[in-house]
Amino acid sequence: MEFLSNKPLYITDTILRDAHQSQAATRMRVEDMLPACEILDSIGYWSLECWGGATFDTCMRFLNEDPWERLRKLRKALPNTKLQMLFRGQNILGYKHYADDVVDAFCGKSIENGIDIIRIFDALNDVRNLEQAIRSTKKYGGMVEGTLSYTISPIHNEEYFVKLAVELEQMGADVICIKDMANLLLPAAAYSLVKRLKETVSVPIHLHTHNTTGTGDMVYLMAAMAGVDIVDTALSPLANGTSQPATESLVATLKDTPRDTGLDLTKMSEAAVHFRKVAQKLKDQGNLDPKVLNVDTNTLLYQVPGGMLSNLISQLKQAGKEDKYYEVLEEIPRVRADYGYPPLVTPSSQIVGTQAVMNVIMGQRYKTFTKESKAILRGEYGQLPGKVSEEVRAMAGIRPEEVISCRPADLLEPEVEKYREEFRDIAKSDEDVLSLALFPQVAPKFLAWRDGPKEPAKAPEAPKAASDPNAVRELYVEYPGL
Ligand code: CO
Repeated sequence: MEFLSNKPLYITDTILRDAHQSQAATRMRVEDMLPACEILDSIGYWSLECWGGATFDTCMRFLNEDPWERLRKLRKALPNTKLQMLFRGQNILGYKHYADDVVDAFCGKSIENGIDIIRIFDALNDVRNLEQAIRSTKKYGGMVEGTLSYTISPIHNEEYFVKLAVELEQMGADVICIKDMANLLLPAAAYSLVKRLKETVSVPIHLHTHNTTGTGDMVYLMAAMAGVDIVDTALSPLANGTSQPATESLVATLKDTPRDTGLDLTKMSEAAVHFRKVAQKLKDQGNLDPKVLNVDTNTLLYQVPGGMLSNLISQLKQAGKEDKYYEVLEEIPRVRADYGYPPLVTPSSQIVGTQAVMNVIMGQRYKTFTKESKAILRGEYGQLPGKVSEEVRAMAGIRPEEVISCRPADLLEPEVEKYREEFRDIAKSDEDVLSLALFPQVAPKFLAWRDGPKEPAKAPEAPKAASDPNAVRELYVEYPGL
């Protein structure tokens, strides 16, 4: 295999988003980011990823930070670097489908407050769930990364993803992102897929992977050889394991090759000095479990994304059922097959993961279903890629004629005015209205704290009894992933 491109490889650094989401339950605070912004801004990255569903949720839920305010601070501190966010199509950053006008308002406000690039994905790769977000991002002058949620299954092959990429380019994507949230894309397959995509679509190709299974660096090298335009890496203090491969290692690897990034390792080492201290602090607080740094080949066997593995560990730990870890890992692919092989990414990863946990700890498969589990089986999240087990669907009490086949958002009336009205007493801005609409369990408490007399930050509530299926579900939602 040879280098098929001689252009510099561009780098997106995930240190402000996915790196700490994957390793440290998204607990990095903006005060830990700002001191490094000047040096980060001088490196010359393609972009810095800094915002997404979990950062937004965790800001309000655990850090007493206004996510919009964080974005504005980062925008101000990073005037020369494009800021990037992750956006779950019609779910926006939440866990259900929102009406088109909410999607539109959120794209507009994100861009207004500082986002340049929106990476838009759908857990099921149902492109109808990306239409509105793509349209709105472009309308407000943002750059669209149309995303392939990468997975492996009897129906997900190279042909499938090439066809999907062509479709996304036709829909207006400025960049195609291969989002390999579980580090399932192996080096030779990455070379082959990137080569095919470069021959088929004309927009840049951006690759996102993790180093969960220890193959991430090799994947990036092979993808660079095949001509990938941009890759996601994390500065070394929060790199590797369930996070991204390290930026410095890749920059050094490509030095004096046809894909030399031209980036300055000395500047990165200066930024790394800062983030090593932050990583230590996260470790001291108990938010960074060193387990996430191990090479986990279970992911190759069970196709479970890294973020989901750390969720699973904390979920079982809190339920006092750590001994069921491997049983749950074995149950996940079975549930996934029953559900028509959805890629495991938020929210399908939580839905499938939580159902698998419940199937195991209840001692009987499909004894209970979460609300979300029923919804995905009913087609409320879009079309499942493969055939759904009719038996399981029936066990969930869903009749075949109840299954939705249209674009799910077509069933939703405009919602923005309704939310404005509903939250008129507590929202101080349209940004607040969106926070409340997306995180109705979390945002009211946060806003009451923000706008009320200041008390010391409250510790997170203790988990409920493990036998309560809703408690299990909430634990999942607490650490949204990927
Ligand atoms: Co990721």
